[in-house]
Amino acid sequence: MAGIVTAGHQGPGTSVRGARPDERSFRRAIGRFGTGVAVVTTAGPGGPSATTVNSLTSVSLEPPLLLICLKEGSRTAAAISAAGAFTVNVLSGGQAATAAGCAAAGRPSGERALEGVPHRPGWRGIPVLSGSLSYFGCLVERELPGGDHTIFLGRVCELGTGPEDEPLLFYRGQFARLG
Ligand SMILES: Cc1cc2nc3c(=O)[nH]c(=O)nc-3n(C[C@H](O)[C@H](O)[C@H](O)COP(=O)(O)O)c2cc1C
Repeated sequence: MAGIVTAGHQGPGTSVRGARPDERSFRRAIGRFGTGVAVVTTAGPGGPSATTVNSLTSVSLEPPLLLICLKEGSRTAAAISAAGAFTVNVLSGGQAATAAGCAAAGRPSGERALEGVPHRPGWRGIPVLSGSLSYFGCLVERELPGGDHTIFLGRVCELGTGPEDEPLLFYRGQFARLG
């Protein structure tokens, strides 16, 4: 079986049972659920927006639905609400710098949001990142409150796949790759 080889994650940590969840313990426990990594893009009058997510879930096959969760105050969430559409770009193992860049606080917005990140205009003019494993162009079907996040349920209207490559993973707060 393939192993996680490049994540310099912390040691084994302490075992916990029956703890009341606070933000830190919840993050640590849910961080043991390894995920892929995606960059969600959208486009509006102010230019493109992009943010890194691992809250991506496939919801339904017929109709094809997926969801992402974006935290309160997310610039990209506001842009998606305004545009009514977004594209999910599933990242490959070589795109950790892109993932980190699109998660960085204080990064440029508007026309410079994707500066240095190779991309092309795709479905509805929304950026598709070059080298992504796959992408999904979605119309916002529903926007639901989810605590301090907003859940965007997207109907997949267009999709594409790139070359076969290994995925970028996120595990215990670190990027990881398959061995
Ligand atoms: C691997 C990874 C996964 C992330 N997943 C999410 C997510 O699912 N939802 C979210 O709101 N923020 C997530 N973040 C944090 C955002 O990418 C980050 O806060 C970003 O600066 C928010 O930009 P925005 O205001 O354009 O949304 C993640 C960050 C990383 C590194």
